Amino acid sequence: MDWGLKNRLAKIIKPADGKAVMLAVDHGYFLGPTERLEVPKNTIRPLLKYCDSLMLTRGILRTSVDANFPVPVVLRVSGGTSIIGEDLSNEQITTSIKDAIRVNASALAMSIFVGGKYEHQTIVNLGKLVNEAEEYGIPVLAVTAVGKDMVRDSRYFSLACRIAAEQGAHIVKTYYCENFEEVVNSCPVPIIIAGGKKIPERDALTLAYNAIKAGAVGVDMGRNIWQSDYPVPMIKAVRSIVHGHATVDQAYDMFKNLSKESPPPKTSKPSASSKQKPSKPTKKRKKKE
Ligand code: 5RP
Repeated sequence: MDWGLKNRLAKIIKPADGKAVMLAVDHGYFLGPTERLEVPKNTIRPLLKYCDSLMLTRGILRTSVDANFPVPVVLRVSGGTSIIGEDLSNEQITTSIKDAIRVNASALAMSIFVGGKYEHQTIVNLGKLVNEAEEYGIPVLAVTAVGKDMVRDSRYFSLACRIAAEQGAHIVKTYYCENFEEVVNSCPVPIIIAGGKKIPERDALTLAYNAIKAGAVGVDMGRNIWQSDYPVPMIKAVRSIVHGHATVDQAYDMFKNLSKESPPPKTSKPSASSKQKPSKPTKKRKKKE
């Protein structure tokens, strides 16, 4: 592996323990101002020092993150769809490698939609992105996006993750499911899990714990951190599982104790154990996580 690629990967997956806490704040690229991420800089600022890397688009990076803060960036470079558009799987690469280098990205991220209408396009684009990124020693993280018609089981996720790895992805981000070991075992590159929609904190910590136990190297969590009423205690609790070998009980106790000392966020309405608030778009929302 080229020195640059290895060095960038080490910024994302910490060599000390081979684990990673990535904070996902890229949701606006197709969801717009989703709940608790309406003003990204307010959401991101308090959490920055607790994540190993930050996953986001160039627009939010440039407008909402202090360039003086040395957080490694996983830059989402795919997009082109919206929650009210025709088909979320119709993504293309929207950010050039030059711009990724300009913002000093440590990795590039894009979604593939295995089983989706635009499966072919997104998988070919992953291959092309890896071709280009390898030239500059930049790792690529492939996100296995799940369409509403897909069964979220280990068979599907094994298929999607393996295809991503076969195309050369250096890290694969996917969703936790039963028998997750099967997904990990059949994917030759490190796997991190997304958190998915907001669930109660204890459940989200259990998800992280089970994923790590099954062999995931870490989490790329978004809503289950910043849609919590207590985002900083939540990210600290997640960290304690990923990097600190904490059990679910220990992590949840940590969350509860830290929450007592923290004021709830002022940005928008609480949703600690709630579901996402329906947003405004007029068309029926499509499902993609
Ligand atoms: C969307 C993404 C998000 O970054 C991903 O879903 C992680 O966030 P969350 O934990 O909220 O699911 O890649 O395609």
